[in-house]
Amino acid sequence: MIPFIDLNAQQKLIRNKIDKRINQVLDHGQYILGPEVKELEDKLSSFTGSKYVLCCSSGTDALLLSLLGLKIKPGEGVIVPAFTFASSAEVMPLLGAIPIFVDVKRDTFNIDPSKLSSALTTAKDIGISVKGIMPVGLFGQPAEMDLINAFAKNNNLWVLDDAAQSFGGMHKDKIVGNLSEVAATSFFPAKPLGCYGDGGAVFTNDKEIYEIANSSHVHGMGKKKYEYDRIGMNARMSTIQAAILLEKLEIFPEELQKRQIVADKYNKNLNNLNLGIELPKINKNFKSSWAQYTILLPEKINRDKLQEYLKSKNIPTAVYYPIPLNEHRPYNKYPVSQSGLDVTYYLSRSVLSLPMHPYLKDDDIIYISENINNFFKTLR
Ligand SMILES: Cc1ncc(COP(=O)(O)O)c(C=O)c1O
Repeated sequence: MIPFIDLNAQQKLIRNKIDKRINQVLDHGQYILGPEVKELEDKLSSFTGSKYVLCCSSGTDALLLSLLGLKIKPGEGVIVPAFTFASSAEVMPLLGAIPIFVDVKRDTFNIDPSKLSSALTTAKDIGISVKGIMPVGLFGQPAEMDLINAFAKNNNLWVLDDAAQSFGGMHKDKIVGNLSEVAATSFFPAKPLGCYGDGGAVFTNDKEIYEIANSSHVHGMGKKKYEYDRIGMNARMSTIQAAILLEKLEIFPEELQKRQIVADKYNKNLNNLNLGIELPKINKNFKSSWAQYTILLPEKINRDKLQEYLKSKNIPTAVYYPIPLNEHRPYNKYPVSQSGLDVTYYLSRSVLSLPMHPYLKDDDIIYISENINNFFKTLR
């Protein structure tokens, strides 16, 4: 089977360095809040240009800590796309807040800025005070932050970027982590920058947001040990994960370039086939971290059958996401913007993600494209 994501190829390259880093942690024994965590925070701060970085236990906890930093209160609303992973919306109800679902754009899979106004009106009509917007950089491309930030400013809202998938992406000269008031990313192993367990980080230039998130990630600690300022959680990053990430961060820029080359090759091959497949569009002035390479299949194609066919040829595929979030039982009571979710429903039926990682070989990309072509030919 061609790997969907090949963590082994990467590990082979840096295994010695990772072993050395892990051994250093075993030697000093500070498994929690050890020096590697601070070192990683400093390096991530230089990498993104974000003044404050807080490493934590997962991408979901990074979102939760960001919301705590933004002082969200029960009953308040946050506008979030319906076409995303559960974490983006689950953190609101965990704090008693309300996700308001809005549609995304067909070509970028990201929140549609032209529909924010309708989402806001929907919430107002039912008496919900909206405090913020949570765009998601789905599959690696950041959302259209200029438009979203401008809308937020005009309406006195904050913007929390769910950058779990888009870490490493860019908008103009700014790197993800630094495109809005606060951003949260995930270091889940399969993410563009992943560790060997769970991990995440919060990025902000706002001291107060950072301080609240920092305190909250260690039980709401105050200035002194065993002195508490607030209700918090246990959301620290393990030192060993920080040690692993430090080595992975070294090769991350090069890996991002390699992912771009893989995406370009897919685009070229699939485009040449003229099958009516819609390819992922990267907006001008944006760079994707290519967490996923996701195509849109023509309506006539049976996605299950295509997946089965490709699997029989040792090509794994995935559907992110087959069901809009608002359709799931825990979420179906939350408001949906009056502008509807037509694109979300369409994408749920049509998306297909192909193998994507920096070490995907040219021959594999050709083989995958050829087999997609062969399946389409069987239908003619
Ligand atoms: C869009 C999005 N948000 C949040 C998360 C949560 O990250 P984690 O799995 O590290 O909690 C993920 C991870 O899968 C994600 O894809």
